Amino acid sequence: MEFDSVIRGRRSIRAYTNEAVPEGLIREILDAARWAPSWRNTQAWNVWVLTGEALQRYRDEFRAAVERDDPAALDLPATAEWPQACSARTAALMKSRAATLDAAGEPTDPAAALARMADLFGAPCLLVFGFDDCLAEAYASFDSGSFVQNVCLAAYDRGLGTCIVATVIRYPDLLRRLLPGAEGKRFVVSVTLGSPVAESPANTFARSRADLDELVTWVS
Ligand SMILES: Cc1cc2nc3c(=O)[nH]c(=O)nc-3n(C[C@H](O)[C@H](O)[C@H](O)COP(=O)(O)O)c2cc1C
Repeated sequence: MEFDSVIRGRRSIRAYTNEAVPEGLIREILDAARWAPSWRNTQAWNVWVLTGEALQRYRDEFRAAVERDDPAALDLPATAEWPQACSARTAALMKSRAATLDAAGEPTDPAAALARMADLFGAPCLLVFGFDDCLAEAYASFDSGSFVQNVCLAAYDRGLGTCIVATVIRYPDLLRRLLPGAEGKRFVVSVTLGSPVAESPANTFARSRADLDELVTWVS
């Protein structure tokens, strides 16, 4: 696929078919993605690939925690109050999503959205990204983000869908208990991976981007 079409064509996919992703394809995506840049080439990221029974177990335990309303305890601090321009962009996103879901007769309330996330959007594969807890979280997260974006683009280029989801790692102690080698790690995001349900309203609502001139300061 032409490179700009990959960047512009990728979108967050929040409804998947149950078709398994072949392990060889997941490996190919991660193999390409690992060429991401990192601080002094440290590549201080880890990824856990959950499929099959391991994925089902995580889904069940995560869903149970959501249903008990366990308090979220993300490993990384989240912004409490966003600048007005940023929250306006979120509001525009939510409005567009609600209009499309509403027109299709699907629920738009936050509880329904959380329930879909608790089901991992039906994805047959979940990638969980983390790094050693001795690392300064800012640049370790930055490096992981480059790796994650490469994963999302490489997956899209191969006809697969992804969604970066912080919500799905909001009980990191659960991950540290279930995932091998996860003690002493901090989790940054998860990524759902699979074949998109093409016509789903969750996968087709319009998203926008800020005008370039809102973000760029040209200095010459
Ligand atoms: C760090 C991060 C965390 C995210 N967490 C969630 C999440 O918990 N649930 C969700 O549905 N989408 C999540 N997203 C996806 C964003 O909502 C999405 O990228 C944004 O709305 C832009 O839409 P697009 O990816 O379709 O271009 C997350 C994205 C990032 C980068």
